[in-house]
Amino acid sequence: MTDRPDRPGPAGPPDAEGPLRVALLGCGTVGSEVARLLTESAADLGARIGRPVELAGIAVRRLNRERPGIDPALLTTDAQGLVEREDIDLVVEVIGGIEPARTLILAALNRGAAVVTANKALLAEDGSSLFTAAERAGTDLYFEAAVAGAIPIIRPLRESLVGDEITTVMGIVNGTTNFILDRMHTEGVGFSETLTLAQELGYAEADPTADVEGFDAAAKAAILASLAFHTRVRAEDVHREGITEVTRADIATAEAMGSVIKLVAICTLTDEPEPRVSVRVHPAMIPSSHPLAAVGGAYNAVFVESRSAGRLMFYGPGAGGSPTASAVMGDLVTVARNRVRGASGPGESSYARRQVAPIGDVVTSYHVSLSVADVTGVLASVAHCFAEHGVSLQTVRQEGTGGTPAVTTAEVHESGGSARLVIVTHAARDADLSATVEQLRCLPEVHEVISVMRVEGA
Ligand code: HSE
Repeated sequence: MTDRPDRPGPAGPPDAEGPLRVALLGCGTVGSEVARLLTESAADLGARIGRPVELAGIAVRRLNRERPGIDPALLTTDAQGLVEREDIDLVVEVIGGIEPARTLILAALNRGAAVVTANKALLAEDGSSLFTAAERAGTDLYFEAAVAGAIPIIRPLRESLVGDEITTVMGIVNGTTNFILDRMHTEGVGFSETLTLAQELGYAEADPTADVEGFDAAAKAAILASLAFHTRVRAEDVHREGITEVTRADIATAEAMGSVIKLVAICTLTDEPEPRVSVRVHPAMIPSSHPLAAVGGAYNAVFVESRSAGRLMFYGPGAGGSPTASAVMGDLVTVARNRVRGASGPGESSYARRQVAPIGDVVTSYHVSLSVADVTGVLASVAHCFAEHGVSLQTVRQEGTGGTPAVTTAEVHESGGSARLVIVTHAARDADLSATVEQLRCLPEVHEVISVMRVEGA
């Protein structure tokens, strides 16, 4: 916390007698829960803050919707007018999306109000504008609810671990995709069927693109990496692959290897060949013994490794009105306490200014599963292909299909005899692994590349 009497922002602590006034932008699943908690727990919240707190207005798109428990007198469609009200001390933004959220948050910050937001897309696209405005005004911008719902992960990265050096953040930060992949493992069903079920059960949106294509997780990864590595990382810097291509064959192969497939957000610090960060979201095989492998259903978890603390794991509900509102309320009490003391919490820390490494330079292991002609020398051809690209093999397993093996490719085509090769590589440059797979696809002995996936956490 820093004192701010010399800053050009608001004139210091609010009237010691009056309540702190909160403007709420958005009254959907999260907003209505925040409104309920602010109203029903006002006395306790006031005691924790050291000053009464009052919900002064709620900006909504339509006034005529049913909103049980919400005082209609608080509702307005004039969000801009609400954030510009001089008596508003704290603004909670739970509208989501880029606009009008950005304009409203900037208006609030520019006149010195503290802001609590759950807006991962905006923070990942233009967080620096918001942080700059907060810094100039000497006020707070808090966003615990933007990543992994109720799980405290922003504050641990921003405050608790800020004296340590974080080397890896690896998270399951999207509940929809975790639900789908978990079901594909437990029920042995395909992606499309499981997506339909997830939509019926309310775990996936009617348009599931943001979740299943990894956009939601990429925004969260950008926020986590920025905090962990003191470097500005935007959503567009994040390498992103979704889960739509994950097949039942991939799932079966993972299980045979004692692994599970998860959509992971991985942020790492690298020093070779130069200090950089890598930030990526993609499906990966994770050994069943890894702490993230046990995260089932729509739950989220974030695994952090740092030089001094070692390995830490944060786990819990990553979405939903009530869990997300818990994170919002925690921030609300914190910024209100700061306000009462005429102080503000940490701002952006981006001093390290590391470059973001392109995916081709990232070092990973791969699992590659091939259907090959069951002929003499096929293993040598396949191994040669890996060696040519400088990729070292860790394990190779052959699963024959039985019968008399053919001796030449021509015989194989006649007999249809094939075997399955299951290969796990040592860590190598992603570009070299991709080039290897492309070449494998062209080998006459390779009938099919059945499954290709990165292996993480081994
Ligand atoms: N759709 C998101 C998820 C909600 O599944 O985790 C929170 O961003």
